[in-house]
Amino acid sequence: MTPLIELSGITKSYGHVDALNGVDLTLHDNEIIGLIGDNGAGKSTLIKILSGVESFDSGTMRICGKAIDPKRHSVRAARRMGIETVFQDKSLGESQSIWRNFFMGRHRTNALGLIRVQHEKKEAMRVLTETLGLGGAGLSAGAPVSVLSGGERQGLAIGRAMYFNARVVILDEPTTALAVKEVGKVLGFTKTLKQGGKSGIFISHNLHHVYDVADRYLFIQHGRVVHEARKENESPESLIKTLMKWS
Ligand SMILES: Nc1ncnc2c1ncn2[C@@H]1O[C@H](COP(=O)(O)OP(=O)(O)OP(=O)(O)O)[C@@H](O)[C@H]1O
Ligand SMILES: [Mg+2]
Repeated sequence: MTPLIELSGITKSYGHVDALNGVDLTLHDNEIIGLIGDNGAGKSTLIKILSGVESFDSGTMRICGKAIDPKRHSVRAARRMGIETVFQDKSLGESQSIWRNFFMGRHRTNALGLIRVQHEKKEAMRVLTETLGLGGAGLSAGAPVSVLSGGERQGLAIGRAMYFNARVVILDEPTTALAVKEVGKVLGFTKTLKQGGKSGIFISHNLHHVYDVADRYLFIQHGRVVHEARKENESPESLIKTLMKWS
């Protein structure tokens, strides 16, 4: 089967800084991969390229077998191809209501072109409460995003990606700065994605979190994938040892 994502020899420089030095990466259907590496290794740069925020300098990128022209790739194009990225905070409008935020840029309209407010409110709440199992006191369709806890915010972004049928959900450090209980929720959402047949890329400095949700681990160092490991051959402890060896 054609991989969902295939990167080969991807390079990216910011002026004199070589952020990526020839990255090879393959993501298969219904697979979660974990990106592991030190600060500045190139993890975020890599996912920015995939999600269309940044372009790459050389190498090839294929999404569902289709070669991507770096000059024409964009966040919109990536979304159209089913790649959704959940950034830690940037993608959430703080003062917006939960339901508006959920449907941001993709509102459902009626024959007159008016937003179907009640339908959108109901759908947003259905995904958050039924699909993701959230039930916090502040969670109501009309409440502003600013009242949500860190885990609920991640849930909103992940739920949106699920609702709009993303094939690949990219999560860049979704558990950073969350309380233990909230971390559990975000790890749970990521597993829900996998159970729903989706694929994902999960970045975290916490190897226990990465170990838990991913099927395969890629170690990134100086803008390259230097080592690959599979869950069946690893424990959280052995991943930590490998990280020490490669950093
Ligand atoms: N816009 C930019 N301009 C210049 N240099 C950049 C830019 N973005 C990233 N870099 C550099 O590229 C390298 C890779 O950065 P990147 O953000 O991809 O690392 P990372 O692996 O995500 O690190 P962290 O774990 O700290 O988030 C770093 O040396 C960084 O300073
Ligand atoms: Mg980063």
